[in-house]
Amino acid sequence: MDKVKSHLENVAVFGQGFVGLPLSLSFSFRGCNVYGVDILEKLVNETNKGITHHTECFEGKTIQTILNEELEAGRYRATADIPGALEKCNNIVLTVGMTEVIECCKTIGKYLKKGDLVLVRSTVVPGTTEDKVLPILEEESGMKAGVDFYLAYSSERIAEGFAFDEFAYMPTITAGVNAESAARAKELLEVVCQVPVIVASEIKIVETSKVFENVQRDVNIAMVQEFARFTEALGVSIHEVIEVANTHKRVNLLTPGPGVGGYCIPNAYHYIEPKATEMNMTMDILKLCREKNADLPNVMVNILKDSLKSVSKELSGAKVGVLGFAMKDYSNDDRISPPIEIIKLLIEAGAKVEAFDPAVPTDYDFKVDSLDKVLNGKDAIVVLAKQKQFDEITADSIISSVNKNAVVFDTRNLFKGIKDELNSSNIVYTTI
Ligand SMILES: NC(=O)c1ccc[n+]([C@@H]2O[C@H](COP(=O)([O-])OP(=O)(O)OC[C@H]3O[C@@H](n4cnc5c(N)ncnc54)[C@H](O)[C@@H]3O)[C@@H](O)[C@H]2O)c1
Repeated sequence: MDKVKSHLENVAVFGQGFVGLPLSLSFSFRGCNVYGVDILEKLVNETNKGITHHTECFEGKTIQTILNEELEAGRYRATADIPGALEKCNNIVLTVGMTEVIECCKTIGKYLKKGDLVLVRSTVVPGTTEDKVLPILEEESGMKAGVDFYLAYSSERIAEGFAFDEFAYMPTITAGVNAESAARAKELLEVVCQVPVIVASEIKIVETSKVFENVQRDVNIAMVQEFARFTEALGVSIHEVIEVANTHKRVNLLTPGPGVGGYCIPNAYHYIEPKATEMNMTMDILKLCREKNADLPNVMVNILKDSLKSVSKELSGAKVGVLGFAMKDYSNDDRISPPIEIIKLLIEAGAKVEAFDPAVPTDYDFKVDSLDKVLNGKDAIVVLAKQKQFDEITADSIISSVNKNAVVFDTRNLFKGIKDELNSSNIVYTTI
């Protein structure tokens, strides 16, 4: 481990969530002294005991191992003591949610010291850093941004599950309120980022590009869902169509799933919309794609309804086993989770739902704790998110567990290898 320059050594990371904890640890195992600040006492206490439910890993180590190593080495600690952390650190990184940025900055401003760097990494409405964060920090601290303290923005581009790798190897972009702030942010980011850190000319460019990056995924997902409805009607496999189309070197169609979840993509349009309205614009295509994607849970429920009808069963009263309710494959994150939305709609429609997801720690009434329980005695098995444990499922285990004339609705294409076996055992297999 190289020695970190002394002015980069002490880092306070605000927010110890999906981004903040792995980012804090990334600074810490590279030699910084890190204060992981959060307002949730329970989270702080658990983290300090080495407990986290995140599923990240790096170079063969799980985040749990990394956390415990860093706690033991004394380079990382979680804390709710904001003044204490700010007193010790001159590098302050924000990874709180958009709605929490302003409150967070009000507190930071009160304890800001001359020469501190404030680096916003939250995804924000373009303009937030200069139009909202800057005046708050100046007012609360009585100091001038770019003169008495440094202020910069850097977009956070990681995908959950790949956080450590992407902090290190995805190009990181930054910009500052002045050249000194940008240079100072670049230096700090380079402690973690192992590829060149790119300095853009303006903060608004970095804020906007981050939002566009997320919105383009929302739009691409809406497009591929429309393609999936088309191929369903045509009677061909969307997955094979995509595989064929993607052999074209300028085509990159995404895989359709049961919806768009998590904190970032469903919110992306809502980061553009307020600024567009302020500038007297509408973003019609983006709005339509967002609306279409928000409706996907209903579309999925209707596909299941039709599939059950084809075996003379009604959704109301049907016993449904759901595999996976994280917002995406191999994740523990169930925030804005389309599977949860789908389960709620199924229950509202009178289905009796049991669901299993070994990675998600949240308790739900519909949650069961084993594969056996979720498969047993069901009229329908619905795959909504993959988890490693689901690789154990064989055609036999499904065939021997489900009711007569059952359906399998596989939104993740998990059972593509066993679908013929299922079909030949009178199980109706549907995918999207
Ligand atoms: N999750 C992702 O994959 C991802 C990817 C790219 C960008 N982002 C962006 O990063 C930001 C953080 O996302 P996340 O998924 O880590 O959110 P998160 O909800 O997991 O974590 C945010 C944490 O901030 C804490 N917090 C709130 N107010 C605070 C305050 N005043 N002081 C200290 N802590 C406070 C919360 O208690 C929470 O633990 C968001 O802006 C998000 O859009 C997230």
